[in-house]
Amino acid sequence: MSAHPKTNDIVNIPQHHDRILILDFGSQVTQLIARRVRESGVYCEIWPFNQATAERIKAYNPKGVILSGGPQSVTWEDSPRAPEGLFEMGLPLFGICYGQQTMVEQLGGKVESSDHREFGRAYVDVKANTAITENVWESGAHEQVWMSHGDRVTALPEGFEVIGTSDGAPFAFIADETRKFYAVQFHPEVVHTPHGGDLLKNFTHNVCGCAGDWTMAAFKDEAIAKIRKQVGSGKVICGLSGGVDSSVTAVLLHEAIGEQLTCIYVDTGMMRAGESQQVVSLFRNHYNIPLIHENASDKFLGLLQGVKDPEMKRKIIGATFIDVFEDIAGRIGKVDYLAQGTLYPDVIESVSFTGGPSVTIKSHHNVGGLPERMDLQLVEPLRELFKDEVRDLGRALGMPEDFIRRHPFPGPGLAIRLPGEITAEKLDILRKADTIYLEEIQSAGLYDAIWQAFAVLLPVKTVGVMGDDRTYDHVCALRAVTSTDGMTADYYHFDHDFLSRVSTRIINEVRGINRVVYDITSKPPGTIEWE
Ligand code: XMP
Repeated sequence: MSAHPKTNDIVNIPQHHDRILILDFGSQVTQLIARRVRESGVYCEIWPFNQATAERIKAYNPKGVILSGGPQSVTWEDSPRAPEGLFEMGLPLFGICYGQQTMVEQLGGKVESSDHREFGRAYVDVKANTAITENVWESGAHEQVWMSHGDRVTALPEGFEVIGTSDGAPFAFIADETRKFYAVQFHPEVVHTPHGGDLLKNFTHNVCGCAGDWTMAAFKDEAIAKIRKQVGSGKVICGLSGGVDSSVTAVLLHEAIGEQLTCIYVDTGMMRAGESQQVVSLFRNHYNIPLIHENASDKFLGLLQGVKDPEMKRKIIGATFIDVFEDIAGRIGKVDYLAQGTLYPDVIESVSFTGGPSVTIKSHHNVGGLPERMDLQLVEPLRELFKDEVRDLGRALGMPEDFIRRHPFPGPGLAIRLPGEITAEKLDILRKADTIYLEEIQSAGLYDAIWQAFAVLLPVKTVGVMGDDRTYDHVCALRAVTSTDGMTADYYHFDHDFLSRVSTRIINEVRGINRVVYDITSKPPGTIEWE
Protein backbone atom coordinates (compact mmCIF):
# COMPACT_ATOMS: atom_id res chain seq x y z
CA MET A 1 0.00 0.00 0.00
CA SER A 2 1.53 3.33 -0.94
CA ALA A 3 2.17 5.96 1.68
CA HIS A 4 -0.05 9.01 1.64
CA PRO A 5 1.58 12.21 0.45
CA LYS A 6 2.43 14.72 3.14
CA THR A 7 0.87 12.51 5.76
CA ASN A 8 0.34 14.52 8.88
CA ASP A 9 1.78 13.66 12.26
CA ILE A 10 -1.46 14.41 14.00
CA VAL A 11 -2.46 10.89 14.90
CA ASN A 12 0.69 9.44 16.33
CA ILE A 13 0.56 6.76 18.96
CA PRO A 14 -1.78 7.86 21.74
CA GLN A 15 0.87 7.85 24.46
CA HIS A 16 -1.40 7.81 27.44
CA HIS A 17 -3.50 4.83 26.37
CA ASP A 18 -2.46 1.25 27.01
CA ARG A 19 -1.78 -0.47 23.74
CA ILE A 20 -1.48 -3.92 22.27
CA LEU A 21 0.67 -4.75 19.28
CA ILE A 22 -0.52 -7.26 16.68
CA LEU A 23 2.16 -8.80 14.50
CA ASP A 24 0.68 -9.79 11.17
CA PHE A 25 1.85 -13.00 9.51
CA GLY A 26 -0.49 -12.48 6.56
CA SER A 27 -3.77 -13.97 7.77
CA GLN A 28 -6.94 -12.87 5.95
CA VAL A 29 -8.52 -12.11 9.33
CA THR A 30 -5.80 -10.16 11.15
CA GLN A 31 -7.98 -7.05 11.10
CA LEU A 32 -10.60 -8.94 13.05
CA ILE A 33 -8.10 -9.45 15.89
CA ALA A 34 -7.63 -5.69 16.00
CA ARG A 35 -11.37 -5.09 16.01
CA ARG A 36 -11.92 -7.51 18.90
CA VAL A 37 -9.11 -5.84 20.89
CA ARG A 38 -10.55 -2.38 20.21
CA GLU A 39 -14.00 -3.62 21.23
CA SER A 40 -12.45 -4.56 24.57
CA GLY A 41 -11.62 -0.86 25.01
CA VAL A 42 -7.92 -1.23 24.23
CA TYR A 43 -5.99 0.59 21.52
CA CYS A 44 -3.96 -1.63 19.20
CA GLU A 45 -2.04 -1.48 15.96
CA ILE A 46 -1.18 -4.04 13.31
CA TRP A 47 2.42 -4.22 12.11
CA PRO A 48 3.77 -6.54 9.41
CA PHE A 49 5.90 -9.15 11.23
CA ASN A 50 8.97 -8.25 9.18
CA GLN A 51 8.90 -4.62 10.24
CA ALA A 52 8.91 -5.28 13.96
CA THR A 53 12.32 -5.35 15.59
CA ALA A 54 12.74 -5.72 19.34
CA GLU A 55 13.94 -2.12 19.36
CA ARG A 56 10.83 -0.77 17.62
CA ILE A 57 8.60 -2.83 19.86
CA LYS A 58 10.36 -1.51 22.97
CA ALA A 59 9.90 2.06 21.76
CA TYR A 60 6.23 1.42 21.08
CA ASN A 61 5.90 0.06 24.61
CA PRO A 62 2.88 -2.26 24.25
CA LYS A 63 1.31 -4.04 27.21
CA GLY A 64 1.24 -7.27 25.21
CA VAL A 65 1.77 -8.71 21.74
CA ILE A 66 -0.53 -10.90 19.65
CA LEU A 67 0.93 -13.04 16.87
CA SER A 68 -1.58 -13.50 14.05
CA GLY A 69 -2.29 -16.46 11.82
CA GLY A 70 -0.79 -16.71 8.36
CA PRO A 71 -0.84 -18.72 5.13
CA GLN A 72 2.65 -20.21 5.41
CA SER A 73 3.96 -23.29 7.22
CA VAL A 74 6.65 -23.02 9.89
CA THR A 75 8.03 -26.26 8.45
CA TRP A 76 8.97 -24.45 5.23
CA GLU A 77 12.40 -23.01 4.79
CA ASP A 78 12.50 -19.21 5.20
CA SER A 79 8.96 -19.04 6.57
CA PRO A 80 8.29 -16.00 8.78
CA ARG A 81 9.30 -15.84 12.43
CA ALA A 82 8.56 -13.54 15.33
CA PRO A 83 11.32 -10.93 15.70
CA GLU A 84 14.50 -11.85 17.47
CA GLY A 85 14.34 -11.03 21.15
CA LEU A 86 10.53 -10.87 21.39
CA PHE A 87 10.36 -13.82 23.78
CA GLU A 88 12.89 -12.26 26.16
CA MET A 89 11.19 -8.87 26.52
CA GLY A 90 9.01 -9.91 29.47
CA LEU A 91 5.84 -9.05 27.52
CA PRO A 92 2.68 -11.18 27.64
CA LEU A 93 2.19 -12.94 24.29
CA PHE A 94 -0.77 -14.54 22.57
CA GLY A 95 -0.15 -16.68 19.49
CA ILE A 96 -3.00 -17.54 17.13
CA CYS A 97 -2.75 -20.43 14.62
CA TYR A 98 0.48 -19.66 12.70
CA GLY A 99 1.35 -17.40 15.63
CA GLN A 100 1.08 -20.40 17.96
CA GLN A 101 3.17 -22.56 15.68
CA THR A 102 6.01 -20.09 15.30
CA MET A 103 5.97 -19.41 19.06
CA VAL A 104 6.28 -23.15 19.78
CA GLU A 105 8.96 -23.65 17.15
CA GLN A 106 11.03 -20.67 18.28
CA LEU A 107 10.83 -21.74 21.92
CA GLY A 108 12.06 -25.29 21.26
CA GLY A 109 8.84 -27.26 20.73
CA LYS A 110 7.78 -29.10 17.60
CA VAL A 111 5.36 -28.42 14.74
CA GLU A 112 4.53 -30.92 12.03
CA SER A 113 2.49 -30.93 8.87
CA SER A 114 -0.47 -33.15 9.49
CA ASP A 115 -2.75 -35.20 7.26
CA HIS A 116 -5.57 -34.39 9.63
CA ARG A 117 -6.60 -30.93 8.46
CA GLU A 118 -9.21 -29.09 10.48
CA PHE A 119 -11.27 -26.46 8.71
CA GLY A 120 -14.41 -24.83 10.05
CA ARG A 121 -16.27 -25.59 13.24
CA ALA A 122 -14.48 -27.69 15.86
CA TYR A 123 -14.72 -28.25 19.61
CA VAL A 124 -12.16 -27.73 22.34
CA ASP A 125 -12.21 -29.79 25.54
CA VAL A 126 -11.07 -27.42 28.25
CA LYS A 127 -8.56 -29.06 30.60
CA ALA A 128 -7.50 -26.26 32.96
CA ASN A 129 -8.52 -22.84 34.25
CA THR A 130 -6.24 -19.91 33.46
CA ALA A 131 -6.29 -16.11 33.60
CA ILE A 132 -7.34 -16.13 29.97
CA THR A 133 -10.34 -18.44 30.41
CA GLU A 134 -11.58 -16.83 33.64
CA ASN A 135 -15.39 -16.39 33.62
CA VAL A 136 -15.45 -17.54 29.99
CA TRP A 137 -14.53 -21.22 29.84
CA GLU A 138 -14.49 -23.72 32.75
CA SER A 139 -12.26 -26.73 32.99
CA GLY A 140 -14.28 -29.72 31.76
CA ALA A 141 -16.33 -27.71 29.24
CA HIS A 142 -16.69 -28.57 25.55
CA GLU A 143 -16.51 -25.29 23.60
CA GLN A 144 -17.13 -24.38 19.97
CA VAL A 145 -14.25 -22.79 18.07
CA TRP A 146 -13.28 -22.15 14.45
CA MET A 147 -10.20 -23.87 13.04
CA SER A 148 -8.29 -23.51 9.81
CA HIS A 149 -5.02 -25.40 9.82
CA GLY A 150 -2.95 -28.16 8.28
CA ASP A 151 0.12 -27.99 10.55
CA ARG A 152 -0.12 -28.64 14.24
CA VAL A 153 1.98 -28.57 17.37
CA THR A 154 3.29 -32.03 18.35
CA ALA A 155 5.62 -31.23 21.26
CA LEU A 156 5.46 -28.36 23.74
CA PRO A 157 8.34 -26.10 24.64
CA GLU A 158 9.51 -26.19 28.25
CA GLY A 159 7.23 -24.46 30.71
CA PHE A 160 4.02 -24.93 28.67
CA GLU A 161 0.96 -26.94 29.67
CA VAL A 162 -2.18 -27.95 27.81
CA ILE A 163 -5.28 -25.83 28.45
CA GLY A 164 -7.48 -27.42 25.78
CA THR A 165 -7.48 -30.14 23.14
CA SER A 166 -9.51 -30.78 20.00
CA ASP A 167 -9.90 -33.87 17.81
CA GLY A 168 -7.37 -32.65 15.29
CA ALA A 169 -5.10 -30.65 17.64
CA PRO A 170 -3.96 -32.19 20.93
CA PHE A 171 -2.35 -28.84 21.74
CA ALA A 172 -5.25 -26.64 20.61
CA PHE A 173 -4.78 -24.29 23.58
CA ILE A 174 -1.52 -24.05 25.52
CA ALA A 175 0.02 -21.71 28.06
CA ASP A 176 3.14 -20.93 30.03
CA GLU A 177 1.51 -18.90 32.78
CA THR A 178 4.81 -17.96 34.42
CA ARG A 179 5.98 -16.13 31.33
CA LYS A 180 2.39 -15.13 30.41
CA PHE A 181 2.66 -16.83 27.01
CA TYR A 182 -0.63 -18.17 25.62
CA ALA A 183 -1.26 -19.79 22.28
CA VAL A 184 -4.21 -21.28 20.43
CA GLN A 185 -4.60 -23.30 17.27
CA PHE A 186 -8.11 -21.98 16.68
CA HIS A 187 -9.18 -18.45 15.68
CA PRO A 188 -10.70 -16.53 18.63
CA GLU A 189 -11.13 -13.41 16.46
CA VAL A 190 -13.87 -14.80 14.18
CA VAL A 191 -17.55 -14.83 15.15
CA HIS A 192 -17.69 -18.60 14.70
CA THR A 193 -15.69 -18.89 17.93
CA PRO A 194 -18.57 -17.65 20.09
CA HIS A 195 -16.50 -16.68 23.15
CA GLY A 196 -13.37 -15.72 21.25
CA GLY A 197 -13.80 -11.99 21.91
CA ASP A 198 -14.07 -12.68 25.66
CA LEU A 199 -10.87 -14.74 25.59
CA LEU A 200 -9.07 -11.86 23.87
CA LYS A 201 -10.52 -9.43 26.39
CA ASN A 202 -9.18 -11.59 29.21
CA PHE A 203 -5.79 -11.44 27.54
CA THR A 204 -5.81 -7.64 27.21
CA HIS A 205 -7.34 -6.99 30.66
CA ASN A 206 -6.47 -9.90 33.00
CA VAL A 207 -3.12 -10.87 31.56
CA CYS A 208 -1.76 -7.59 30.15
CA GLY A 209 -3.48 -5.34 32.69
CA CYS A 210 -4.87 -2.85 30.14
CA ALA A 211 -7.26 -0.31 31.62
CA GLY A 212 -9.86 -0.43 28.82
CA ASP A 213 -9.99 3.36 28.46
CA TRP A 214 -10.06 3.50 24.66
CA THR A 215 -13.47 5.06 24.10
CA MET A 216 -14.65 7.34 21.35
CA ALA A 217 -15.59 10.02 23.88
CA ALA A 218 -11.95 10.13 25.02
CA PHE A 219 -10.72 9.91 21.44
CA LYS A 220 -12.88 12.88 20.47
CA ASP A 221 -11.28 15.21 23.02
CA GLU A 222 -7.78 14.07 22.15
CA ALA A 223 -8.41 14.35 18.40
CA ILE A 224 -9.76 17.90 18.82
CA ALA A 225 -6.65 18.94 20.74
CA LYS A 226 -4.39 17.37 18.10
CA ILE A 227 -6.24 19.01 15.21
CA ARG A 228 -5.91 22.42 16.87
CA LYS A 229 -2.23 21.85 17.37
CA GLN A 230 -1.66 20.72 13.79
CA VAL A 231 -3.78 23.32 12.02
CA GLY A 232 -3.08 26.38 14.16
CA SER A 233 -4.76 29.30 12.43
CA GLY A 234 -4.62 27.61 8.99
CA LYS A 235 -7.58 27.17 6.66
CA VAL A 236 -8.99 23.72 5.96
CA ILE A 237 -11.24 22.40 3.20
CA CYS A 238 -13.12 19.13 3.41
CA GLY A 239 -14.98 17.37 0.60
CA LEU A 240 -18.30 15.94 1.71
CA SER A 241 -19.66 12.91 -0.11
CA GLY A 242 -22.76 12.38 1.97
CA GLY A 243 -21.12 9.29 3.51
CA VAL A 244 -20.33 8.62 7.15
CA ASP A 245 -16.53 9.05 7.03
CA SER A 246 -16.40 12.48 5.42
CA SER A 247 -19.35 13.69 7.52
CA VAL A 248 -17.76 12.64 10.82
CA THR A 249 -14.44 14.17 9.71
CA ALA A 250 -16.20 17.45 8.99
CA VAL A 251 -18.15 17.62 12.25
CA LEU A 252 -15.04 16.75 14.29
CA LEU A 253 -13.02 19.43 12.50
CA HIS A 254 -15.76 21.95 12.98
CA GLU A 255 -15.74 21.29 16.73
CA ALA A 256 -11.99 21.74 16.72
CA ILE A 257 -11.49 24.78 14.51
CA GLY A 258 -14.94 26.25 13.79
CA GLU A 259 -15.03 28.69 10.89
CA GLN A 260 -11.52 27.84 9.74
CA LEU A 261 -13.19 24.88 8.04
CA THR A 262 -15.08 25.12 4.76
CA CYS A 263 -16.85 22.08 3.39
CA ILE A 264 -17.36 21.44 -0.29
CA TYR A 265 -20.15 19.29 -1.63
CA VAL A 266 -20.02 18.53 -5.34
CA ASP A 267 -23.30 17.31 -6.77
CA THR A 268 -22.18 15.05 -9.61
CA GLY A 269 -25.75 14.45 -10.73
CA MET A 270 -25.21 10.81 -9.81
CA MET A 271 -26.69 11.13 -6.32
CA ARG A 272 -29.83 9.41 -5.06
CA ALA A 273 -33.16 11.20 -4.68
CA GLY A 274 -33.06 13.89 -1.99
CA GLU A 275 -29.44 13.18 -1.10
CA SER A 276 -27.99 16.59 -1.89
CA GLN A 277 -30.72 18.39 0.07
CA GLN A 278 -30.08 16.13 3.09
CA VAL A 279 -26.35 16.90 3.11
CA VAL A 280 -26.88 20.61 2.64
CA SER A 281 -29.52 20.82 5.30
CA LEU A 282 -27.48 18.84 7.86
CA PHE A 283 -24.28 20.80 7.41
CA ARG A 284 -25.41 24.26 6.47
CA ASN A 285 -28.60 24.53 8.47
CA HIS A 286 -28.17 22.14 11.40
CA TYR A 287 -24.44 22.49 12.11
CA ASN A 288 -23.95 25.91 10.61
CA ILE A 289 -20.75 24.75 8.94
CA PRO A 290 -19.67 26.93 6.00
CA LEU A 291 -20.59 24.81 2.98
CA ILE A 292 -20.17 25.35 -0.72
CA HIS A 293 -22.73 23.33 -2.65
CA GLU A 294 -21.77 23.08 -6.29
CA ASN A 295 -24.25 21.59 -8.69
CA ALA A 296 -22.04 20.23 -11.46
CA SER A 297 -24.46 17.63 -12.81
CA ASP A 298 -24.60 19.08 -16.33
CA LYS A 299 -20.84 18.97 -16.60
CA PHE A 300 -20.63 15.36 -15.40
CA LEU A 301 -23.56 14.20 -17.55
CA GLY A 302 -22.09 15.94 -20.60
CA LEU A 303 -18.72 14.26 -20.18
CA LEU A 304 -20.31 10.86 -19.58
CA GLN A 305 -22.46 11.03 -22.70
CA GLY A 306 -22.07 7.88 -24.79
CA VAL A 307 -19.65 6.26 -22.31
CA LYS A 308 -20.50 2.64 -21.53
CA ASP A 309 -17.31 1.18 -20.09
CA PRO A 310 -17.41 1.04 -16.25
CA GLU A 311 -13.73 1.89 -15.74
CA MET A 312 -14.01 4.80 -18.16
CA LYS A 313 -17.01 6.10 -16.22
CA ARG A 314 -14.98 5.96 -13.00
CA LYS A 315 -12.01 7.72 -14.60
CA ILE A 316 -14.14 10.52 -16.04
CA ILE A 317 -15.98 11.03 -12.76
CA GLY A 318 -12.74 10.96 -10.72
CA ALA A 319 -10.93 13.44 -12.97
CA THR A 320 -13.93 15.76 -13.29
CA PHE A 321 -14.43 15.70 -9.55
CA ILE A 322 -10.86 16.86 -8.99
CA ASP A 323 -11.24 19.63 -11.59
CA VAL A 324 -14.46 20.91 -10.05
CA PHE A 325 -13.12 20.62 -6.50
CA GLU A 326 -9.94 22.47 -7.39
CA ASP A 327 -11.90 25.18 -9.11
CA ILE A 328 -14.09 25.74 -6.03
CA ALA A 329 -11.14 25.60 -3.65
CA GLY A 330 -9.39 28.21 -5.78
CA ARG A 331 -12.30 30.57 -5.19
CA ILE A 332 -11.98 30.35 -1.40
CA GLY A 333 -8.61 32.05 -1.28
CA LYS A 334 -5.61 30.71 0.56
CA VAL A 335 -6.18 27.18 1.87
CA ASP A 336 -3.56 25.21 3.83
CA TYR A 337 -5.07 21.82 4.56
CA LEU A 338 -7.29 19.19 2.99
CA ALA A 339 -9.24 17.06 5.46
CA GLN A 340 -9.95 13.45 4.48
CA GLY A 341 -11.87 10.62 6.09
CA THR A 342 -9.09 8.05 5.63
CA LEU A 343 -9.66 5.04 7.92
CA TYR A 344 -7.28 2.58 9.56
CA PRO A 345 -7.95 -0.26 7.07
CA ASP A 346 -6.74 2.11 4.30
CA VAL A 347 -3.38 2.63 6.00
CA ILE A 348 -2.56 -0.80 7.43
CA GLU A 349 0.36 -2.15 5.50
CA SER A 350 -0.49 -5.63 4.37
CA VAL A 351 1.90 -8.57 4.33
CA SER A 352 2.30 -9.92 0.81
CA PHE A 353 4.08 -13.23 0.23
CA THR A 354 3.63 -13.14 -3.51
CA GLY A 355 5.41 -9.84 -3.93
CA GLY A 356 3.29 -8.87 -6.92
CA PRO A 357 0.67 -6.14 -6.96
CA SER A 358 -2.87 -7.33 -6.43
CA VAL A 359 -5.21 -7.18 -9.40
CA THR A 360 -7.33 -4.07 -9.69
CA ILE A 361 -10.92 -5.25 -9.83
CA LYS A 362 -12.37 -1.73 -9.78
CA SER A 363 -10.57 1.57 -9.41
CA HIS A 364 -12.22 3.59 -6.65
CA HIS A 365 -12.27 7.29 -7.17
CA ASN A 366 -11.29 9.83 -4.52
CA VAL A 367 -9.50 13.14 -4.50
CA GLY A 368 -6.11 11.47 -5.09
CA GLY A 369 -3.59 13.84 -6.60
CA LEU A 370 -5.28 16.93 -5.27
CA PRO A 371 -3.01 17.57 -2.26
CA GLU A 372 0.07 17.74 -4.48
CA ARG A 373 -1.63 19.83 -7.17
CA MET A 374 -2.83 22.38 -4.69
CA ASP A 375 0.12 22.09 -2.31
CA LEU A 376 -2.10 21.13 0.61
CA GLN A 377 -1.18 19.32 3.81
CA LEU A 378 -3.48 16.48 4.83
CA VAL A 379 -5.56 16.34 7.98
CA GLU A 380 -6.77 12.78 8.53
CA PRO A 381 -8.19 12.54 12.04
CA LEU A 382 -9.80 9.10 11.47
CA ARG A 383 -6.59 7.36 10.39
CA GLU A 384 -6.53 5.23 13.53
CA LEU A 385 -10.17 4.13 13.43
CA PHE A 386 -12.19 1.23 12.09
CA LYS A 387 -15.58 1.93 10.50
CA ASP A 388 -17.56 0.90 13.58
CA GLU A 389 -15.42 3.24 15.69
CA VAL A 390 -16.13 6.08 13.26
CA ARG A 391 -19.83 5.47 13.81
CA ASP A 392 -19.29 5.59 17.59
CA LEU A 393 -17.31 8.79 17.20
CA GLY A 394 -20.22 10.24 15.23
CA ARG A 395 -22.48 9.37 18.17
CA ALA A 396 -20.02 10.97 20.61
CA LEU A 397 -20.26 14.09 18.42
CA GLY A 398 -24.05 14.00 18.68
CA MET A 399 -24.66 13.32 14.99
CA PRO A 400 -28.12 12.06 13.97
CA GLU A 401 -28.37 8.28 14.20
CA ASP A 402 -29.87 7.86 10.73
CA PHE A 403 -26.88 9.65 9.23
CA ILE A 404 -24.40 7.52 11.18
CA ARG A 405 -26.03 4.27 10.14
CA ARG A 406 -26.21 5.08 6.43
CA HIS A 407 -25.22 2.34 4.04
CA PRO A 408 -21.99 3.00 2.13
CA PHE A 409 -22.50 4.72 -1.23
CA PRO A 410 -19.83 4.56 -3.94
CA GLY A 411 -18.06 7.72 -5.12
CA PRO A 412 -19.25 7.36 -8.75
CA GLY A 413 -22.79 7.00 -7.38
CA LEU A 414 -25.63 5.93 -9.64
CA ALA A 415 -23.30 5.97 -12.66
CA ILE A 416 -22.18 2.43 -11.77
CA ARG A 417 -25.76 1.29 -11.13
CA LEU A 418 -26.73 2.06 -14.71
CA PRO A 419 -24.85 -0.44 -16.88
CA GLY A 420 -24.45 1.04 -20.36
CA GLU A 421 -24.95 4.64 -21.34
CA ILE A 422 -26.09 7.13 -18.71
CA THR A 423 -28.90 9.54 -19.54
CA ALA A 424 -30.88 11.98 -17.41
CA GLU A 425 -34.01 9.97 -18.16
CA LYS A 426 -32.51 6.67 -16.98
CA LEU A 427 -31.16 8.36 -13.84
CA ASP A 428 -34.64 9.60 -13.10
CA ILE A 429 -36.17 6.11 -13.49
CA LEU A 430 -33.45 4.56 -11.34
CA ARG A 431 -33.89 7.15 -8.57
CA LYS A 432 -37.62 6.43 -8.36
CA ALA A 433 -37.15 2.66 -8.15
CA ASP A 434 -34.32 3.01 -5.62
CA THR A 435 -36.43 5.28 -3.41
CA ILE A 436 -39.31 2.80 -3.30
CA TYR A 437 -36.97 -0.10 -2.52
CA LEU A 438 -35.30 1.78 0.35
CA GLU A 439 -38.62 3.02 1.70
CA GLU A 440 -39.89 -0.57 1.89
CA ILE A 441 -36.66 -1.75 3.53
CA GLN A 442 -36.93 1.02 6.12
CA SER A 443 -40.56 0.36 6.88
CA ALA A 444 -39.93 -3.39 7.22
CA GLY A 445 -37.26 -2.50 9.83
CA LEU A 446 -34.55 -4.22 7.77
CA TYR A 447 -32.24 -1.29 6.99
CA ASP A 448 -29.74 -1.95 9.79
CA ALA A 449 -29.53 -5.67 9.09
CA ILE A 450 -28.31 -4.93 5.55
CA TRP A 451 -24.86 -3.66 4.56
CA GLN A 452 -25.99 -2.11 1.28
CA ALA A 453 -29.22 -2.18 -0.70
CA PHE A 454 -29.89 -0.51 -4.03
CA ALA A 455 -31.62 -0.78 -7.38
CA VAL A 456 -29.82 -1.21 -10.71
CA LEU A 457 -31.43 -0.22 -14.01
CA LEU A 458 -30.45 -2.68 -16.72
CA PRO A 459 -29.92 -1.70 -20.36
CA VAL A 460 -32.28 -4.50 -21.31
CA LYS A 461 -35.91 -4.10 -22.33
CA THR A 462 -38.42 -6.88 -22.01
CA VAL A 463 -42.03 -7.37 -23.04
CA GLY A 464 -44.80 -7.12 -20.48
CA VAL A 465 -48.51 -6.58 -20.26
CA MET A 466 -50.28 -3.90 -18.24
CA GLY A 467 -54.07 -3.82 -18.47
CA ASP A 468 -54.77 -4.57 -22.11
CA ASP A 469 -51.56 -3.03 -23.34
CA ARG A 470 -48.27 -4.53 -24.32
CA THR A 471 -45.29 -2.85 -22.66
CA TYR A 472 -41.64 -2.85 -23.68
CA ASP A 473 -39.61 -1.43 -20.80
CA HIS A 474 -36.46 -1.73 -18.70
CA VAL A 475 -35.57 -4.46 -16.21
CA CYS A 476 -34.76 -3.32 -12.69
CA ALA A 477 -32.46 -5.50 -10.59
CA LEU A 478 -32.56 -5.26 -6.82
CA ARG A 479 -29.44 -5.88 -4.76
CA ALA A 480 -29.09 -6.26 -0.98
CA VAL A 481 -26.11 -7.76 0.81
CA THR A 482 -24.83 -8.45 4.29
CA SER A 483 -21.14 -7.91 4.94
CA THR A 484 -18.75 -6.74 7.64
CA ASP A 485 -16.28 -4.85 5.50
CA GLY A 486 -17.44 -4.96 1.87
CA MET A 487 -14.64 -7.42 1.02
CA THR A 488 -16.93 -10.42 1.07
CA ALA A 489 -20.71 -10.39 1.06
CA ASP A 490 -23.75 -12.61 0.99
CA TYR A 491 -27.05 -11.69 -0.61
CA TYR A 492 -29.76 -10.78 1.86
CA HIS A 493 -32.45 -13.43 2.28
CA PHE A 494 -35.67 -11.40 1.98
CA ASP A 495 -38.94 -13.21 2.33
CA HIS A 496 -40.99 -13.52 -0.82
CA ASP A 497 -43.84 -11.33 0.40
CA PHE A 498 -41.41 -8.48 0.83
CA LEU A 499 -39.97 -8.96 -2.67
CA SER A 500 -43.45 -9.14 -4.22
CA ARG A 501 -44.44 -5.93 -2.47
CA VAL A 502 -41.41 -4.05 -3.77
CA SER A 503 -41.78 -5.45 -7.26
CA THR A 504 -45.47 -4.52 -7.46
CA ARG A 505 -44.82 -1.02 -6.21
CA ILE A 506 -41.94 -0.39 -8.61
CA ILE A 507 -43.82 -1.65 -11.66
CA ASN A 508 -46.99 0.26 -10.73
CA GLU A 509 -45.31 3.49 -9.71
CA VAL A 510 -42.28 3.84 -11.96
CA ARG A 511 -42.85 4.53 -15.63
CA GLY A 512 -40.14 2.80 -17.68
CA ILE A 513 -39.78 -0.42 -15.66
CA ASN A 514 -41.94 -3.49 -16.32
CA ARG A 515 -39.89 -6.27 -14.74
CA VAL A 516 -38.04 -6.65 -11.43
CA VAL A 517 -35.44 -9.30 -10.58
CA TYR A 518 -33.51 -10.00 -7.37
CA ASP A 519 -29.75 -10.60 -7.45
CA ILE A 520 -28.76 -13.70 -5.43
CA THR A 521 -25.02 -13.59 -6.11
CA SER A 522 -22.54 -13.58 -3.24
CA LYS A 523 -19.16 -11.84 -3.26
CA PRO A 524 -17.00 -13.59 -4.36
CA PRO A 525 -17.64 -14.54 -7.11
CA GLY A 526 -19.81 -11.46 -7.75
CA THR A 527 -19.06 -7.93 -6.58
CA ILE A 528 -21.48 -5.80 -4.61
CA GLU A 529 -21.98 -3.19 -7.34
CA TRP A 530 -22.88 -4.31 -10.84
CA GLU A 531 -20.07 -2.33 -12.45
P1 XMP B 1 -17.59 -3.99 -4.98
O1 XMP B 1 -18.59 -3.63 -6.02
O2 XMP B 1 -16.17 -3.84 -5.42
O3 XMP B 1 -17.79 -2.91 -3.81
O4 XMP B 1 -17.86 -5.33 -4.35
C1 XMP B 1 -17.22 -2.96 -2.54
C2 XMP B 1 -17.60 -1.68 -1.84
O5 XMP B 1 -16.98 -0.57 -2.50
C3 XMP B 1 -17.95 0.30 -3.02
N1 XMP B 1 -17.49 0.74 -4.34
C4 XMP B 1 -16.94 1.94 -4.56
N2 XMP B 1 -16.71 2.99 -3.73
N3 XMP B 1 -15.79 4.21 -5.53
C5 XMP B 1 -16.15 4.12 -4.23
O6 XMP B 1 -15.95 5.10 -3.49
C6 XMP B 1 -15.98 3.20 -6.43
O7 XMP B 1 -15.65 3.31 -7.61
C7 XMP B 1 -16.60 2.00 -5.91
N4 XMP B 1 -16.93 0.80 -6.47
C8 XMP B 1 -17.48 0.05 -5.48
C9 XMP B 1 -19.24 -0.48 -3.08
O8 XMP B 1 -20.39 0.36 -3.02
C10 XMP B 1 -19.10 -1.39 -1.87
O9 XMP B 1 -19.41 -0.70 -0.67
